[in-house]
This record gives sequence, structure tokens and C-alpha cells, in this order.
Amino acid sequence: MNATPILQLRKISKRFGNIQALDHVDFDLREGETHALVGENGAGKSTLMRILSGVYTEYDGEFLLDGKPVHLHSPHDALDLGIAMIHQELSVMPELSVAENLFLGRQLVTRWGTIDWKKMYNTAEQELARLGFEHLDVRQPLGKYALGTQQVVEVLRTIVSGARVIIMDEPTSALSPAEVERLIHVIDKLREDKRSIIYISHFLEEVVRVADRITVLRDGQKVATLDAAETNTSHLVSLILGREVNATLPPAVTSADGHILLEVNNLTSDVFNDVSFKVNKGEVLGIYGAIGAGHFDLARALFGMYRFDSGNITVDGHRFKPRHSARYAIQHGLAYAIESRRKSLLMDEAIYRNVTLPHLNRIGSLIPRQSQELKLAAPAIQMVNVQPPDPLNPVGTLSGGNQQKVAIARWLTFPPKVLVMSEPTRGMDVGAKSEVLSILRKFRNDGYGVLVVSSEPETILTVSDRVIVMSHGRVVGHMENKDLNKDVLMRLL
Ligand SMILES: Nc1ncnc2c1ncn2[C@@H]1O[C@H](COP(=O)(O)OP(=O)(O)OP(=O)(O)O)[C@@H](O)[C@H]1O
Ligand SMILES: [Mg+2]
Repeated sequence: MNATPILQLRKISKRFGNIQALDHVDFDLREGETHALVGENGAGKSTLMRILSGVYTEYDGEFLLDGKPVHLHSPHDALDLGIAMIHQELSVMPELSVAENLFLGRQLVTRWGTIDWKKMYNTAEQELARLGFEHLDVRQPLGKYALGTQQVVEVLRTIVSGARVIIMDEPTSALSPAEVERLIHVIDKLREDKRSIIYISHFLEEVVRVADRITVLRDGQKVATLDAAETNTSHLVSLILGREVNATLPPAVTSADGHILLEVNNLTSDVFNDVSFKVNKGEVLGIYGAIGAGHFDLARALFGMYRFDSGNITVDGHRFKPRHSARYAIQHGLAYAIESRRKSLLMDEAIYRNVTLPHLNRIGSLIPRQSQELKLAAPAIQMVNVQPPDPLNPVGTLSGGNQQKVAIARWLTFPPKVLVMSEPTRGMDVGAKSEVLSILRKFRNDGYGVLVVSSEPETILTVSDRVIVMSHGRVVGHMENKDLNKDVLMRLL
């Protein structure tokens, strides 16, 4: 590996109002290296990368490419210089084909100026085969594939574009273990091609595995840059948080008393088959499966967001017929936090408003008064520890992980009898993960029922009392958490 950096950032500072998002940060990238960037939610990772990729053009400090100062004016400038960023939010077009998505914005044309479909399909097929994704049909609409696959295509698009610096902001947050493996394989290929990657992730085991070097940010400052070979996850955790943490929760003491709050019988659709389970009062039931196992669609089906053909649902003794309406579900004692929680947020609206939104009908007056809403939202915002905590800030100004916390806070204001949550800790840093899982525990200790649907073994094992494992749409295991560990879980898939 060539040790001369191709890219250097020196003493980069960036403010948003009174928030110092970045404070004199140094960062460099070598040819052919994978350099990971880690830190708590709000540490400044995405902001630094937005400067690198031309999204933010106003900042203090120096930016050198191949030793020469540059100042980018737009993401387009960055692309011209070979710097491409894969954002935390998916930006693929589900209605376009896989091939079109791979060439989005730079379609191949014939010499008559028309789109060269043949060449586009062929090139797409070749590129996918080279990268180990020959099973994707380049002519199919991308929306036909699972979310994880769409995310992989987003990554592949930047690679196919030939960029020499590829920034991946949490590329694996929605990938199945198999897809993560394929992505790591892709990164190895890129390394051979001498391309450089900046890799942002909260999965520290993954970071230690893929990265050559790791830079840790904390509160907008660089804490350290380390060789990955010389560090480990617990060392990283202490650098990230600036303190030692005990991320393990005390063992679950179940307060379930046999009072069934949610009962699902023989639910069947095109993607799940004959699924039955119960959630008791004072209990967390975890449903674990790899992405594509049907568990997320099962959760949606409970809320009329996915069609089921037969079976039935009972909530606290009453038959429940799902409709696609959050308000209707809440009235019947059920609430759902979907895995793509950003979609459920109004980015331009204040934090407090996003929390009170599903509950406005309870506030009484037709025009909800701000002070009333603020009073209602404040305890929940505090409980999930949104940073920065000012409830008047628009949600769009929060870091990715803090946006997730807002979406959770809304169900703490008026707790439903049963809270259903898909991927409760997606996008959260190590500290926030254990905070949110403790909140779910508290919820259950207070006598509510919780259903956690996830593809992250740690999340399931940390928070559940009982666990159901799904594979290919069927229940393949049902166990008490005390009899489980990660190996047992993975083997059941
Ligand atoms: N457009 C903006 N307006 C105001 N504040 C912002 C804006 N973008 C980011 N911030 C603030 O800057 C800080 C850094 O945010 P950033 O998104 O870089 O964090 P991050 O490290 O990527 O976190 P996460 O892991 O949650 O994605 C946060 O305090 C955030 O609230
Ligand atoms: Mg971010």
C-alpha cells in the first residue's frame, strides 16, 4: 500500500448555529486503504463526509487532494474528482431496473444519442458478475428485491462509476449477514483495484474486520487514528464514549403473569406461513430472522401494511382486524415503529411535534397549543436522550441516530398495551443501543407487552424474554432467552 495520502483534511471545523459539529479535525486517506470512521450519534461523522463529498461548501480548514488544495462547490465537483458518497439514506429508484440504477445519472448512449440498452445490460451483468452479484437480474425493477439488495446496488453504483474514493455511510445497517459478507468481499476487490474507501459504521466488529485504519470522533473532535490490527472492539468503545461502559443489561426478570396481550394465530401470506405466537403482559418477545425471513412483513401485517390471507389476531382478548391506520391501531392498544423510521418522521417539523403527532387527538383543543405539546413531549425526549435536546429544533437537523430516537420517543408518551418495534437499534451507537433497549425493558417491567422484530442477534438476545426464530417465512424455533446464545440463533436460520 502506498502510504502517501491521496486525500488530506486539515483542521476542519464546521458550525451549525451554536453547535460545533466539527472542531479542528484532521483526517487522511491513503491509496487502496479502507479507513473507518466511528463515533457516537452526533459525533460529526456524516458532517465530515458531507464536506468531503461537496455537500457542505462552507467550513474552516484545508482540503488537499493529491497534495493540492481543492475547494468543492457541489457533489458534482466531488464526483468529477472521483469522490463518491453513499448516503445513510437510500437514494435508489425502486421503479427503475437494476441496470438503470447502476448507471443512474450517467446512462450509456449510442452514437445517435439514444440510450444504449444492450450495452447497459451487458455492462451491468459483467460488473455484477465481477463483484459476485450475478444472481441479480439487471432487467428487473430494483423494487422487486429486498431492501438489503437495494442497498447493495446503491453501493455497487458508486463502484461502477469508477470513483477512486468511495464513502460508505452505514452501508450495512439493513443488510443480512450474507449480504454483509458479500459487501466485505466487494471491499476486498476494491482494495485490489487500489481504490480507497471511507467506512462509517456502528458495528464495531465489522469495522475492525474491514478497516486498515480507524479514526474515532467524539463531540466533533478527533480522538485517535489507529491501525485496525492494533485495536479491538472494547478499546474502540472506550475511545468512542470516552468512558468505560457496561453495555450488558442485567438479566431479564420476567414479570409476565400469563395475561395475554397479543395473540397471533396461524397467520399466513405469500411470505410467511402459519405463524402463531403470544405476547404476555410484562414480557418482551423477540422475533429473529435473517433479512428476507418474512419477519418484518409479519410485523407489518399486524398493522394492515402487508396483506395476509388467513389467520387472526387478538389484542387483550378482543379480535383485532388490522387497518392501515396508526390511529386505529393505537385506539386498539397497539403501536408500531417500523424499521425505516426516518420515513415516519416529518423532517422540517420540530422534534416535539414529531413526538406528539400520533397523539394530537388526545390533546383536546382543535389547535394544539405549543406549550401543551411541549409539556407532553418533554419526558419522552429526555428518556431517549435526544442530542442536542432542544425540542424546538427541526428533526432534519439531528444526526441519523438521534432521528431514530425521536421516532421511538413518540410511543413513550402514551404507551400502547403492546409496542411492536422492528430493528429498535438500527443506526444507533453503542451507548444509545443499550439506552433504547433498557427503555424497552422498563416498558415491559411497567406491565406492557413488547414485540421486537430484528435481524441483529445482539439486539434480540439483549432485550427478549422469549425468542421465536423465523426462516423462509416459517417459525423454526421457539425458546427462552436463557437457553440461547448467538451461535444457537445463527444455527437455527
Ligand atoms: N443541517 C444541520 N443543521 C443543524 N445541525 C446539524 C445539521 N447537520 C448536523 N447537525 C448537528 O451536527 C452534529 C453532527 O451530526 P452528524 O450528522 O455529523 O453526526 P453523525 O456522527 O453522523 O451521527 P449518526 O451516527 O447519528 O449518524 C450533531 O449535533 C447534529 O445535530
Ligand atoms: Mg451520520
